[in-house]
Amino acid sequence: MPYTRRRFFEMNALAAAAAASAKAQRPSPNDRVQFAFIGCGARAHELMAALMVHPQASITGVVDAYKGRTERAVDRVGKQARVMRDYREAIADKSIDALVVVTPDHWHKRMVLDALAAGKDVYCEKPLTFQSSEGLEIIEAARKTGRIVQVGSQGVSSQTQIKARQLIQEGKIGQVTTVRAAYNRNTASGAWIYPIPPDASPSTVDWEMFLGPAPKRPFDLERFFRWRCYQDYSGGIATDLFVHLCTTIHYLMNAKVPAKVMAMGQLYRWKESRDVPDTLNALLEYPEGFSVNLSSTFNNQSTAEGSFQFLGTEGTLSLEWGRLLYQPESAREDNRWIVESWPRRLEEAYWNDPKVREQELPSTWKARMVDAETAFREEGRDATVDHFGHFLESIRTRKSYWQDAAVGHRAAACAHMVNRSVTTGKMVEWDFARDDIKS
Ligand SMILES: NC(=O)c1ccc[n+]([C@@H]2O[C@H](COP(=O)([O-])OP(=O)(O)OC[C@H]3O[C@@H](n4cnc5c(N)ncnc54)[C@H](O)[C@@H]3O)[C@@H](O)[C@H]2O)c1
Repeated sequence: MPYTRRRFFEMNALAAAAAASAKAQRPSPNDRVQFAFIGCGARAHELMAALMVHPQASITGVVDAYKGRTERAVDRVGKQARVMRDYREAIADKSIDALVVVTPDHWHKRMVLDALAAGKDVYCEKPLTFQSSEGLEIIEAARKTGRIVQVGSQGVSSQTQIKARQLIQEGKIGQVTTVRAAYNRNTASGAWIYPIPPDASPSTVDWEMFLGPAPKRPFDLERFFRWRCYQDYSGGIATDLFVHLCTTIHYLMNAKVPAKVMAMGQLYRWKESRDVPDTLNALLEYPEGFSVNLSSTFNNQSTAEGSFQFLGTEGTLSLEWGRLLYQPESAREDNRWIVESWPRRLEEAYWNDPKVREQELPSTWKARMVDAETAFREEGRDATVDHFGHFLESIRTRKSYWQDAAVGHRAAACAHMVNRSVTTGKMVEWDFARDDIKS
């Protein structure tokens, strides 16, 4: 996510909240859930700040492939955090209860499976998977080990999305058959061309640790710090941004996964810096009875970052992060131009019908227009704090939160279906019996 002025203030607010909760009564160290962070990059630092708001959590281990990031992690969370050489050290450490996996996507499956096998609970950033079939392995491992897996698409823990879900499920906007969602940007940073720290070099960056299961390549700082731009480590817009959109849509619409997906993608502008598209459009059809239109471009940001419209027969819900607007439908029957072409006597008879008069004459509409627009604006803490709240609650109760391995698998699978459709030029279908993409 781009580091905007608003995000600067959000991080400061999180730090203040963490300091306040540190002063509050803390459980004894032995009762706290001990966390290790695998990956201490940009998102991990936001996650650390959010986790530190919870007094029952303690961050005692940090791992990263670039030294500067573990240095900043200890600076952020405190000296109780031990810098570990490799994620396997955190997994072997019996004092660690839970892992937060915040590495590039090509590492997620290996780290989650190893953590579960060692009896740890796992919070894994979205997308849960790099390839769709990995999701089935993770679901099975979570079932066998009885450990908790929660995926980090935090929007669904926001009050905005909880309220929107409630309104849709109560039927406030009637039957929803179309959803539109977009994620647009127009900056180099928004297009993932992040600044590279000036001290990055083979002596501070562990290139082999970063590569892991990815194809071997010579040392390359652009690939290391801007990994989202390359298919070896990322599914681009689909796995980075569409996953958030699909998770929200699944949550609000009580839906699992699309039956069919068609998509097109092009690299129009940032050609020197990537091998993934900068413009992506996709259509998804759900068996629950609605269709979705997803779009993203890195070449214009006139619409908000992450915005949705749920179009229902009785109204529309428009969502941005932290904002919700309900507008009732004002659609009216109007057959004047049709009946004006009928024989005059039939037209007169048409207008004499009281039912027609009630539906079509503007003088009768007023009573139905009382239900005006309603807006909802969320203030207060970041959804990530509450998302971690769900994770900590699950660790305590041993009951997974809604965004478990299966939900994470299907949200990521939407992205993989989009990318497969772009690559093959064909429609991609879901195999409901196998709970995976039809091969
Ligand atoms: N939920 C959200 O809103 C959100 C926002 C941003 C990123 N993310 C997700 O978080 C993850 C990380 O993204 P980021 O923006 O922080 O990227 P990043 O490049 O800033 O951080 C990734 C870190 O992982 C480290 N790393 C790489 N291989 C490693 C290994 N084998 N062991 C330990 N560390 C390793 C890198 O050195 C780097 O510091 C991605 O999966 C991304 O999709 C989620």
